[in-house]
Amino acid sequence: MQVYINGSFIPREEAMISAADRGFLFGDGIYEVIRVVEDRFVLADEHLARMDEGLRGLSIQLSSEIRNEILNIAKELIQRNDLTQGQASVYIQITRGAAWPRTHTYPDPKVQPTVYLSAASFKPHTGLHERGVDAITVPDVRWARCNLKTVNLLPNSMAKQRAAEAGVNSAVMIRDGVITESPNANIFGVKGGVLRTYPATNYILNGITRQAVLKIADELTIPVKLEPVNESELFELDELFFTGTTTDIQPVVNIDGKKIGSGKPGEICRMIQKRYDNLLAGR
Ligand code: PDD
Repeated sequence: MQVYINGSFIPREEAMISAADRGFLFGDGIYEVIRVVEDRFVLADEHLARMDEGLRGLSIQLSSEIRNEILNIAKELIQRNDLTQGQASVYIQITRGAAWPRTHTYPDPKVQPTVYLSAASFKPHTGLHERGVDAITVPDVRWARCNLKTVNLLPNSMAKQRAAEAGVNSAVMIRDGVITESPNANIFGVKGGVLRTYPATNYILNGITRQAVLKIADELTIPVKLEPVNESELFELDELFFTGTTTDIQPVVNIDGKKIGSGKPGEICRMIQKRYDNLLAGR
């Protein structure tokens, strides 16, 4: 497998970054994950627009020359790694770059950002989409800039690890008594035919899949309330599902050992899954 770092395509075993990289020392960088289906990049413009927003949010300046090449680099990675057939995902990470000595303030003068891309084959979690998944509730201990897709994923990683150790698939994170997100997906609840999801504030990542689902809901004339689900309402919901680039639309049927709705994937989730599958397939 080949990856891309700062201008070169190289075997992934040879990929190196500087020990002074601010992504390594400070988590000073952003990332994106884009789905590729039969060599077609799904919602690529939307992902790249969010990447730009993240770079602006962190004041990382990528030259327009490199910025304009990102999608081509991603496409070349898919080709070079023989991933043009079936499904794949592309990972893009950009950090502020490497700077000695280690100082909290941003390097002045600026340094070249580190640009890293990798690609991997991807298998959709079809069984989980069919059956639904179990989750546990965990406190959302993340910072107050969750809208930026930074590489500071330790709280997410810890939450997912807790879920794995509890023998369930994922976690539902709770901040101030309301449901925010899962460690790697957005969350929608359904009650009385109305979709509910956390509004796009600084406390969640405004998922590209979340935005696609809001559009689908509009097309299907499903009413939506951009209001979070309270923890106390969790077991009064009819349905709950996760949305994300590597999650797709995943029904959650059990939380903390208790059923959500009927304990089976719900009707609205199924309708949205169908539409989203069409979107993935480019139909
Ligand atoms: N995660 N919320 C969080 C915290 C996420 O990490 C993600 C995606 C999402 C869904 O966003 P999108 O629909 O744009 O993929 C929501 C990626 C896939 C990851 O960390 O691998």
